[in-house]
Amino acid sequence: MADAGANRLADKAAIVTGAARGIGKAIVEAFAAEGAAVWCADLHGGEAEAVAAAIRAGGGKAEGGYCDVRSTDSVLDAVDAAVEAFGGLDILVANAATLTPAATVEDLDEADWAQALAVNLTGAFHLCKHGIPHLKRAGGGSVILTASQMARVGNPGSAAYCTTKGGLVQLAKVMALDHAADGIRVNTLSPGGTATDRLFSRHGSPERAEEEWGKPMHPLGRLGRPEEMAKGAVFLASPESSFMTGADLLMDGGYSAR
Ligand SMILES: NC(=O)c1ccc[n+]([C@@H]2O[C@H](COP(=O)([O-])OP(=O)(O)OC[C@H]3O[C@@H](n4cnc5c(N)ncnc54)[C@H](O)[C@@H]3O)[C@@H](O)[C@H]2O)c1
Repeated sequence: MADAGANRLADKAAIVTGAARGIGKAIVEAFAAEGAAVWCADLHGGEAEAVAAAIRAGGGKAEGGYCDVRSTDSVLDAVDAAVEAFGGLDILVANAATLTPAATVEDLDEADWAQALAVNLTGAFHLCKHGIPHLKRAGGGSVILTASQMARVGNPGSAAYCTTKGGLVQLAKVMALDHAADGIRVNTLSPGGTATDRLFSRHGSPERAEEEWGKPMHPLGRLGRPEEMAKGAVFLASPESSFMTGADLLMDGGYSAR
């Protein structure tokens, strides 16, 4: 578990998708360290359960298991399980994303385009659709959609990914307007290149990911760490960001400042 925090999420319950690895795993660990009960939802159900078990072993509150965000029923099951376990929900984090092959629109397979939209964008819709009624019941809450610096800049060969991430920023803005009166804040968290399996698999190794993507593309000269992104998520989930909604928290090491 991450270092004990300042209890900024005491008595809160959260569900996080894509929680088995990378940024999602760092987010659930940071939330638990801040006192939240966290439901770890992931396509890799066994890994999500293991993340939750490790949090419990460290004294935190966590459960988790299989969830495919492409399926509205699967997300509903995860939300229901979280509500049953924790008595309600206050925080939703739609973080799962799929890897899409690099290709121009001309060359991208229809199936890869559809998969990117289904996981990255419709997956967030599913979590919000089933989770927001519980936030309303709780009298308010915080919704965080993990977008990307690619929501605001283009990247060659990344049409599907950039489109889904731009879509999430718009989705957050509209939900912020729709649910402000319910006491629900909705924001995006936009990491830049972050040291996770997503980049390691694309570049072949952690070292090559740093050399080929971290160093040259980020003015701070390196990839971000999942724990750095998790700090942003804690901020967005906690009352420290109480006057922030419909906004994008960009944590990209200067990538898009050029
Ligand atoms: N790593 C980066 O450089 C970077 C940069 C900007 C934005 N992001 C965003 O941050 C988020 C997390 O990225 P990451 O680097 O930790 O990715 P990752 O690939 O390391 O982890 C993604 C997690 O999502 C899960 N997942 C994939 N498809 C799923 C599905 N259908 N249902 C449920 N879970 C599913 C995977 O099993 C995995 O545990 C993503 O939204 C990604 O787009 C990452």
